[in-house]
Amino acid sequence: MMKPSNADLAIVASKWSHFEPDTTRSFFGFAPLRPYLIETAYGHALAQKHKDNRFWAEDILASTMLRGRRIRHILSLCCGFGEVERRVASRLPSVETCHGVDLAPGALDEARTRAAAQGLTGFTYECADLNRYAWPEAAYDLIIANGALHHLAALEQVLEGIARALRLGGVVYANEHVGASRLDHSPRQMELINAAAYLVPPELRLRQPLPFSNSRSVPQFINRLYRLSLARGSLSAGARGGALTGVARAIFGPTPFHFGALYRSQAAKLARSDPSESIRSDEILHLFRARFPRAQIRAYGGGILAYALDDRFYEAYDEANPRHRGVLDLLCALERELMASGELGPEHAILTATKGPERAARGGTSRNYAAGPQARHDRTRRRR
Ligand SMILES: C[S@@+](CC[C@H](N)C(=O)[O-])C[C@H]1O[C@@H](n2cnc3c(N)ncnc32)[C@H](O)[C@@H]1O
Repeated sequence: MMKPSNADLAIVASKWSHFEPDTTRSFFGFAPLRPYLIETAYGHALAQKHKDNRFWAEDILASTMLRGRRIRHILSLCCGFGEVERRVASRLPSVETCHGVDLAPGALDEARTRAAAQGLTGFTYECADLNRYAWPEAAYDLIIANGALHHLAALEQVLEGIARALRLGGVVYANEHVGASRLDHSPRQMELINAAAYLVPPELRLRQPLPFSNSRSVPQFINRLYRLSLARGSLSAGARGGALTGVARAIFGPTPFHFGALYRSQAAKLARSDPSESIRSDEILHLFRARFPRAQIRAYGGGILAYALDDRFYEAYDEANPRHRGVLDLLCALERELMASGELGPEHAILTATKGPERAARGGTSRNYAAGPQARHDRTRRRR
């Protein structure tokens, strides 16, 4: 397996030293989407219980799988600013130490500061590349990988390292993007994302189709220029789209309605700006199951919603507006049904496993999603 180059690691370390995503304005943390997310992973009862809890995933872990266990030592992989392990540890009175590992020194400094500000003791942080990590033997009762595995290229070695570093009976918890590697979605997923994006009322979306994006020759040339300017990047996509739309209208006059792409692949841009992002994400499910045969896989959505909604949706959405609530309910139902039928794969998943005495063997996996279409989908992905 190719390990990332030093140049790529430097880009990753620099980006994540300063970048702390505002999850309240994304698919993961947007409050009106929370009940849908929790319900697809854990069912209706937990969705109702945690609908107002932004730490739902950490708290469900603490109150279900970790309940009654004596967790003394925690390792957090790709810990970033450390929020997840601080929350989990605060729910487990037996915790004595918590060690975070990340490549980004700026994030680790901030994690240290925040742990100290909360009066937490026993928290340590280490700057290291987890693709080349010296895993200790049987040192931890809990290993957290929150948004971590999908950043790691040496997945086989990392999963082996996790198994080695866990004590017998220890738990690994991962919450991951498991969709297309590098967000290079299949043509069908792109169609579904774009179709869904058109269901969003114009006042709730920044992205606009270009009036000439379905035509040929001169308009096609302008369209190319537009794409090139997006790739180079300085103004926001919305601003450029708006300006070019104005120019095109002035040249070609009013254009009839058509379905130009609203969402375009981010894969090329991502490879340059964040080279570890989703590097082998579409292999996580089967590699995790292979290493931890009794893993619990709780798949959840995002295959459409995480991409069809843009910044304006998160800014302008008004829960009290029935049109807004109606369209969000519609999109959640659409994504849920497409996943249930196997048309759309799981985009994210919560994966947990307990270290047993035996070596990994094939088979015996338990999971919470339909075996038929889902299993077919997994196989299709692996063949690609
Ligand atoms: C999506 S963030 C997750 C941060 C944190 N776990 C959370 O949930 O808030 C991904 C993190 O992976 C780290 N990372 C990426 N590649 C890494 C590598 N090879 N070794 C260690 N950390 C890495 C980044 O620096 C970044 O902090």
